[in-house]
Amino acid sequence: MASTSLLRLLPLLLFLLPRPFREYYLSGSHQPKDVGVGELHPIVVVPGVSCSDLEARLTETYRPSVPRCGAMKGKGWFGIWENSSDLLAHDYVQCFEEQMSLVYDPAINDYRNLPGVETRVPNFGVARGFHEKNPFHPEWCLTRLIEALERIGYRDGDTLLGAPYDIRHAPPIPGQPSEVYSRYFARFRRLVEDASKRKQHKKVIIFGHSFGGNVALEFVRNAPMAWRQKYIKHLILAAPTLSAGFVDPVKNLASGPYNLLYVPTATALSLRPMWRSFETNIANFPSPAVFGDTPIVITKQRNYSSHDMEDFLAAIGFSDGIEPFRRRTLPKMHYFEAPMVPMTCINGVGNRTPQQLVYWESDFDELPEIVYGDGDGDINLVSMLAFDKEMGQQPRQKGQFKSIKLDKAQHGAIVSDEWALKRVIQEILEANRISS
Ligand SMILES: *[C@@H]1O[C@H](CO)[C@@H](O)[C@H](O)[C@H]1NC(C)=O
Ligand SMILES: *[C@@H]1O[C@H](CO)[C@@H](O)[C@H](O)[C@H]1NC(C)=O
Repeated sequence: MASTSLLRLLPLLLFLLPRPFREYYLSGSHQPKDVGVGELHPIVVVPGVSCSDLEARLTETYRPSVPRCGAMKGKGWFGIWENSSDLLAHDYVQCFEEQMSLVYDPAINDYRNLPGVETRVPNFGVARGFHEKNPFHPEWCLTRLIEALERIGYRDGDTLLGAPYDIRHAPPIPGQPSEVYSRYFARFRRLVEDASKRKQHKKVIIFGHSFGGNVALEFVRNAPMAWRQKYIKHLILAAPTLSAGFVDPVKNLASGPYNLLYVPTATALSLRPMWRSFETNIANFPSPAVFGDTPIVITKQRNYSSHDMEDFLAAIGFSDGIEPFRRRTLPKMHYFEAPMVPMTCINGVGNRTPQQLVYWESDFDELPEIVYGDGDGDINLVSMLAFDKEMGQQPRQKGQFKSIKLDKAQHGAIVSDEWALKRVIQEILEANRISS
């Protein structure tokens, strides 16, 4: 009896221990099972952009560009973004690119699938319900974080939950239409409510990495204030891609998504038309408030700063992107509302991070020469600092905002490198400890 309650207290007592013991505890493999399980607040994890699976179903209205892409018509749901080796094995890469594509509909200011293509995200709620599609980097999709959480007593499906999303759509700010996210946010709220109910009405921790950090933040900002106060214990963002933006997405949009979506044999250029059709591609463009007049793209004829991104879209042959950029992305760049829940933001710094792209001959099919600055390898330091400043200024967020900069932690590795992961787990334990 006495020992059980001691075990429950362990995560809390850990903070009273000298640092070396604490770190040993987190990394060691001899820990008692279910330590502190009764004390833990449920946690929902939201992974980066490459992680969530997507299923598709083709109906009679689907008009494939080549007949073989219609092979799955009327055959029910199948995993279209689930196993990238499978795409190759079934000679489905071209059909995949077509069926994943979105269309921007100006009449509703929202994105939708091609006619006859229905999609859904499977495994909602399950922390192991998503995974990296690149077999060489399974650690990119929170696998090590999930293992570490289990070592401190979290249990998948009970206290540890996952909220995969449709990777093609970007989360809206309050008031913006998004059919996909309206459904997703409602499901997410139910997930949180159920988890809370199962655990004596404990509040829930929301954790998001990279683009999942963006999704997590907008999930909270889109929820009614009273709901947030009732259910959210803490919002923890690791290397979030926020609306202040960064330079790397400009390169991906111009020259194709390098290293972002792994499809064997497909080149960045061959994935480019599909990638450009996603809202995700322009969601994190560098914002004027943060990047100002500094040239971001440099060519022989002219430079493009954050103010010139519409001209840049035209220059790379993507004029179709201008209207959604203007109507969906720009308003996000000017939306600074704090989430008004306790929040910790963890970023890596001190890594070579693209700051300017030199496309000297304006050949956007080639990779640019890159001028580097500071950041986490993807996200620019200026962008992180702008978010910190904004959150630190708002009276009702100020006292409940913590920013942590980890020197040399890289964008993806911040949730997989042992030392950085330890720090992230420490913050999750810390969030559990703070009483509210
Ligand atoms: C993915 O697909 C390949 C090729 O079809 C198959 O060999 C492999 O077992 C699949 N992997 C998983 C995790 O299902
Ligand atoms: C573009 O920016 C670079 C770097 O700031 C500068 O040296 C160059 O003169 C600019 N070019 C034009 C055409 O404005």
